Amino acid sequence: MNDTIIILDYGSQYTQLIARKIRECNVHSIILPFDCSDEKIRKYNLKGIILSGGPSSVYENDAPRLLESIFNYNVPILGICYGFQLLVDNYKGTVKGSNKAEYGHADINIKYDSKLFKGIDHISKVWMSHGDKVQKVPNEWIVTSRSDNNIISSSENKSGNTYGVQFHPEVYHTKDGQKIINNFLFEICNANPNWTPDNFINQTIDNIKEIVGDKKVICALSGGVDSTVVGTLMKKAIGSKAICVFIDHGLLRKNESSEVLDIYNNNLKLDVTIYDKSKEFLDGLHNIDDPEQKRKIIGNKFIEEFEKISRKYTDIKFLAQGTLYPDVIESGGYGKVADKIKSHHNVGGLPEKMNLKLIEPVNELFKDEVRKIGRSLNIPDKFLMRHPFPGPGLAIRILGNITENRLEILRDADDIFIKILKEFDYYDKIWQAFCVLLPLKTVGVMGDKRTYEHVICIRMVTSIDGMTADWYDLPEKILKLCSNKIVNEVKGVNRVVMDITSKPPGTIEWE
Ligand code: XMP
Repeated sequence: MNDTIIILDYGSQYTQLIARKIRECNVHSIILPFDCSDEKIRKYNLKGIILSGGPSSVYENDAPRLLESIFNYNVPILGICYGFQLLVDNYKGTVKGSNKAEYGHADINIKYDSKLFKGIDHISKVWMSHGDKVQKVPNEWIVTSRSDNNIISSSENKSGNTYGVQFHPEVYHTKDGQKIINNFLFEICNANPNWTPDNFINQTIDNIKEIVGDKKVICALSGGVDSTVVGTLMKKAIGSKAICVFIDHGLLRKNESSEVLDIYNNNLKLDVTIYDKSKEFLDGLHNIDDPEQKRKIIGNKFIEEFEKISRKYTDIKFLAQGTLYPDVIESGGYGKVADKIKSHHNVGGLPEKMNLKLIEPVNELFKDEVRKIGRSLNIPDKFLMRHPFPGPGLAIRILGNITENRLEILRDADDIFIKILKEFDYYDKIWQAFCVLLPLKTVGVMGDKRTYEHVICIRMVTSIDGMTADWYDLPEKILKLCSNKIVNEVKGVNRVVMDITSKPPGTIEWE
């Protein structure tokens, strides 16, 4: 089992960044809710615990508290921001509200030769984001650094193997943040950096074999990278007992099903069977315009269809799907303090009762990590580097009701847009690009005639893992080409607009 660092989440906007920074050091790390059970924690080969920051104040009555069992595991603990204040409060130090919050850059002055700060300059740039501050550290703790306005910026209790920092080492702007995290992992926790793609693949294959035994698994492939990696892992693990299925829900892009099927069966030899269920899905979505309802209907329908297909075989007990970590996080599934942003079709959109048990081998990975695993599995780059496409497909890119006519408009516009990006070598510079069909019509003039037609919005973002994103600034002449071609060639569209919102505050998809 891999050495694991558990991050207990207190609701910080940076919690996932902590996990990523640790994983980038090839150490396994997992985010759990701040009040998770002892049983859950003991499932891991625990080497250290990090308490994240969070928006609460330790002196509020309903503030999230330290786990009672936290000191039973005998591993080093690092509290970040609110996590630090919790530790201080627990050991009878003093945390005070401050009328002057500290956000942004600060210099810290390191006063003590701490393992946490090994190899770091005495004056170091950090990122602060806090209101409350530690006024007095507990007995037996020492102050290891102060910020330039004399706030205690770190402290530790060496004998207790407990450390706290007021700033955020996980944030890019903390100049030596990665070094501090490295020091915690390797100088303090003695973690083994063995969480590599090849180890992940081998362990996952062993796990799958053990879970599945002599039963069979239906593997839900969607044409995306994540489910393809899962299908490949399943085939490697259990061969023909993995039955790969691709359901066409009628919400795919132009020519997508035939193109994807060709790669699956001719390049990757996954032996995939396609089922055309477009009528069933589109009937289920008739007159539905609420985004959450669309997601739930699609999630439920997928399971219904997979269960029907599984009954054609004997001994299918499992459904394998390519759920990613962000799907779990954004569906509000990893902690009480995490808000539900949207029900990803394969997590929050699932029915309450299912006959098939889920196998989700990549549900602790981010997109870029799945791509690395895919590369180790020899899945060709042309497939791995396809832009992400959401399971609910065009349903969440058609705002309002979904009809055949609106699907056709969106498919044609999206096809033109993506072909231009590929032709001018922008596709690989962009993390995800697509068109959205807006639920409104506007007036235009074409060939001296008044038109009253649909609006297409083009969306392009850069990102690493889809958790945060920036809009992509395509050169004006390419934008002009996209707009001209879409309006001239797609019947029913007379206006093209562009989305220039980053995530946050927007999300990548519109629904
Ligand atoms: P948002 O819109 O949440 O999207 O910023 C982040 C990434 O997730 C994709 N996405 C989904 N993928 N099922 C999926 O398989 C879903 O229900 C779903 N919703 C969003 C989205 O395309 C983007 O890449």
